[in-house]
Amino acid sequence: MEKKWWHGKTAYQIYPKSFCDSNGDGIGDLRGIISKLDYLKELGVDIIWLSPIYCSPLADQGYDISDYYNIDPRFGTMEDMDKLLEEANKREMFIVMDLVVNHCSDEHEWFKKACQDPDGRYGKYFYIKDWHEGEPLPCNWRSYFGGPCWDKLPGHDDKVYLHVFHKKQPDLNWENPELREEIYKMINWWLEKGLAGFRIDAIINIKKKLPFSNYPADREDGLCSVRKMLAEATGIGDFLGEMAEKTFRKWDAFTVGEVFNEKDEELPQFIGDNGYFSTMFDFSETVLGQSEKGWYAAEPVTPEMYKEAAFRNHKRVEGVGFLSNIIENHDEPRGVSHYLPEGEATETAKKMLGGVNFMMKGLPFLYQGQEIGMENFHYDSIDQADDISALDQYQVALDAGLSPEEALKVVDHFSRDNARSPFQWDASANAGFTTGTPWLRVNSNYKHLNLAEQKNRPDSVWNFYRQLIQLRQNPVYHETIVYGEMVPYLAEQYNLMAYYRQGEGQQLLVLGNFQKEPQDVVLPGKVKALLLNNLPGFDAEGSVLHMEGWQFVVLEV
Ligand code: GLC
Ligand code: CA
Repeated sequence: MEKKWWHGKTAYQIYPKSFCDSNGDGIGDLRGIISKLDYLKELGVDIIWLSPIYCSPLADQGYDISDYYNIDPRFGTMEDMDKLLEEANKREMFIVMDLVVNHCSDEHEWFKKACQDPDGRYGKYFYIKDWHEGEPLPCNWRSYFGGPCWDKLPGHDDKVYLHVFHKKQPDLNWENPELREEIYKMINWWLEKGLAGFRIDAIINIKKKLPFSNYPADREDGLCSVRKMLAEATGIGDFLGEMAEKTFRKWDAFTVGEVFNEKDEELPQFIGDNGYFSTMFDFSETVLGQSEKGWYAAEPVTPEMYKEAAFRNHKRVEGVGFLSNIIENHDEPRGVSHYLPEGEATETAKKMLGGVNFMMKGLPFLYQGQEIGMENFHYDSIDQADDISALDQYQVALDAGLSPEEALKVVDHFSRDNARSPFQWDASANAGFTTGTPWLRVNSNYKHLNLAEQKNRPDSVWNFYRQLIQLRQNPVYHETIVYGEMVPYLAEQYNLMAYYRQGEGQQLLVLGNFQKEPQDVVLPGKVKALLLNNLPGFDAEGSVLHMEGWQFVVLEV
């Protein structure tokens, strides 16, 4: 595998709306981010991914862009953005933005012009079809946020347009070369400005299986998940290859794809040496237990499931490319509330989960607040939900016969609001996030769970993440941690997640006891060094290591 400038880095996702508010309007902003760059540098972060800050009606919190070339005033100005790039550069940090090009906002001028003249130039930027009241829609795909993928084109009773996400997110027609050129122009414009690259949103959706056709219904609503169509769509590589060639490769940009369900044989094209993207997220653990029926039908994730999925997916890419490892993001529950059993999210357990994930081969991505072990917050009522996905899934659960209390419990666990509640900086009002009224509730646990409390406490979750990053940066171990093969160890041992990282003449062993009960682990040989431990004690007798519940260690063996 060819070495790339970003391989040895550590990345961090900022959800700007909830990170730091500099002007008291309750909404996080670019100046807030700038004010925290030194903090991120201290933590050890190199690459920062910003969720969208472009102009947007925020129907899907910025994933509905109305102007790709401007910053939404709620987040700041283009001068603030330039300042951020400059300040990051000074600190040898890299800024990556979200690239949302499967769809734009219905308030984008392209869509407005398409509505004015559906047969004209901009009509061809979208998927618009003739339709008459009483007729079936062009196809029965269900949008990700619920309901049919088709809505009436504003101003036209006899036309509908396609949106696989929210109706305020019309899909862009990638079959149209003119549209593609517009997108490449925009990407190059940003890269020229000094951006290091992009996180590429929902990209697998850009290739539709045409002509539009129905699939067997998978719920009572008579609709079928878009995913069925995507599994049959072929030819996405032509678009992605063209995009990479005309944009990213020219700049040696870093790109991380939000890719689901790619086929094994496509992996080299996606993330191989000359792939469409630099890397893509490992969602193999994220999707565990999910059901097409909806959140209410999800199965809990066990440590064995987690381990099996992680090992399988990393083996799949070994020698091909790099995955990006996460325990959470802005679309997922907090990792510590999802992968650890209820009531077990102690600091020790949080460190173990973070540790086994961080040490895997690939690029570690932390999500804001993960470094202090932020947890899901809880709804008292569905009225507190902001996330459009949570509102839809609440209804799906009710329709499936759950009581309102049960349905609330479901969305309480999976809601995307969990990850979007403001960062907990300190114990002052609103967790130090804003002097105004936060746009989304602060988790009520902020008084004891916050950065200020953890910064100076040596055994805090924060200090543990810092040690993980320092270990990755340590020149003695760096090559092994970045490039060493990841080989499962005692994969059959119940609730033990263990693997080697095998470097040249160096071998690290990562051990996580994924349960509250202690367990014994037979070591493969002499321990040369204990590099990291989430507990004060290390109890080895001969070749047997007695691990405490949730203990995590990194050894050189
Ligand atoms: C991605 C984003 C998510 C958004 C969706 C539509 O999955 O991560 O937040 O809602 O795409 O853009
Ligand atoms: Ca603000």
